[in-house]
Amino acid sequence: MALKVLKTVEEVRLFSQGLARSGTSLALVPTMGFLHEGHLSLMREGARRCDLVATSIFVNPTQFGPKEDLGRYPRDLEGDLAKCERAGATVVFTPEPAEIYPPSYQTYVTVEQVSQGLCGEKRPGHFRGVATVVTKLLAMFRPTIALFGEKDYQQLQVISALNRDLNLGVTIIGLPTVREADGLAMSSRNTYLSKDERQRALALSRGLKAAQAAARGGERSVEKLLGLVRAELQQAQVREDYVAICHATTLEPLVTLAHGVPARALVAGYLGTTRLIDNLALALG
Ligand code: PAJ
Repeated sequence: MALKVLKTVEEVRLFSQGLARSGTSLALVPTMGFLHEGHLSLMREGARRCDLVATSIFVNPTQFGPKEDLGRYPRDLEGDLAKCERAGATVVFTPEPAEIYPPSYQTYVTVEQVSQGLCGEKRPGHFRGVATVVTKLLAMFRPTIALFGEKDYQQLQVISALNRDLNLGVTIIGLPTVREADGLAMSSRNTYLSKDERQRALALSRGLKAAQAAARGGERSVEKLLGLVRAELQQAQVREDYVAICHATTLEPLVTLAHGVPARALVAGYLGTTRLIDNLALALG
């Protein structure tokens, strides 16, 4: 099927009303573009689960802080459209910012507890912007399912919470992080890295893997596990933004690991001015 490109909210609404009338199921994959295998894995899974897949490509200004990379966020719309088509998407929504946030715009969605620590603490206002745009996308598309990556683990918990709390009725699906062969989590921001930074960036996944292996070996102390991640960051001269081990759904910080309590190790660090994040599940062996 040829790819359909939609630019306005009205076009999206007409499209989704048509699907509802014909009983066609829809998978939605929201993105900010500059697509890689992580994004495409979400579209392929959407195509397996639903009749149609829609993707949005929108660099959402409200989720960027004043000193962040909104102005230089990488873009490649033509390349992205070809990738969407190959991954099984049939509709791509690429609105202008004024279509999503017209001058009279004044409504924001705030998810409380789960937005507070980690990236929420380090990037004030970030999850308010994410929650707002995702709520708008879910409201205008009314998809059957929406797919998100575990790469942005706190974001996935924020979106699950707003979908539940606002009774949007969408099935939210989280899929595993897609990695480069050497372990680096794929990210549109990896394009900012110099050759040397790209090599040093491996410290994030290496540190998480060390913590995961130690937990599997029976280490329960969060302090010791955090030390393993920090040692990798220091060795590679990655500037820590945060390292944390949290309950996997509430994201409350843990002090010790325990059987039956799902845990997640999460890290954010800077390579020069580029901020990268990663996370892994921890299970006591
Ligand atoms: P973006 O960073 O473009 O990511 C879009 C989706 O792809 C998110 O669900 C993200 O978790 C997922 N993703 C990114 N890298 C991945 C990887 N290596 N493996 C698996 N999935 C990956 O996240 C956003 O955009 C925005 O915040 C958005 C939700 C679109 C709201 O603006």
